[in-house]
Amino acid sequence: MINVALPKGRLGEKVYGLFSRAGYDFPGMLEKNRRLVFENEALGMRCFWVKPFDVPVFVERGTADIGAAGKDILMERAPDVYELLDLKAGKCRMSVAARNDYHDDPGRVLRVATEFPRIAQEYYSGLGREIDIITLRGSLELAPVLGLSDVIVDIVETGTTLRENNLSVISDIAELSARLIANKSAYKFKGKEISEIMRRLQEVSC
Ligand code: PRP
Repeated sequence: MINVALPKGRLGEKVYGLFSRAGYDFPGMLEKNRRLVFENEALGMRCFWVKPFDVPVFVERGTADIGAAGKDILMERAPDVYELLDLKAGKCRMSVAARNDYHDDPGRVLRVATEFPRIAQEYYSGLGREIDIITLRGSLELAPVLGLSDVIVDIVETGTTLRENNLSVISDIAELSARLIANKSAYKFKGKEISEIMRRLQEVSC
């Protein structure tokens, strides 16, 4: 049995679309219900919806053999797993943004609001800039608008949220998309099955 962890939500639905196009269907997975675990006996696979931030935990600990996680979450959690494939779904960027009228004073400690403290810390350490991290859970745009922070480190997809709040990107940190990841020992012991899944997903991801 191959166990697959998919991120619950918009990205997961896109990734499930890839699995489905690759021939891996799990009846009921996209229906409006509260079920979390779906099995396809014929395929010898079981698929479950996991909170996006938790996918690497299920895979690292081997509860799931493989999973799909956003690159942002992999950068933030740095799990000990194999990153097998760029699924090319949910493409967006991790960027630094500030108010349109923001002027930086490089001599001051920069106040950075983010859901991704490790990514922000690593980025600014690389620049040799001292920062004060303010960790929030969503609606980050409020922070610079209301003066809680100088900048935000956040995901930008269309740029609409920034524009509508009079914010703009001042630098890009990374390109993001969903990645197929594997548990290290599962990759060793179920390598044949996992490679086949990888091959078929590669054919349908573009
Ligand atoms: C994400 C992100 C931005 C927005 C960017 O938030 O944090 O707020 O999407 O997308 P855009 O560039 O297309 O406007 P999400 O909608 O996931 O909700 P959140 O604020 O609760 O994290």
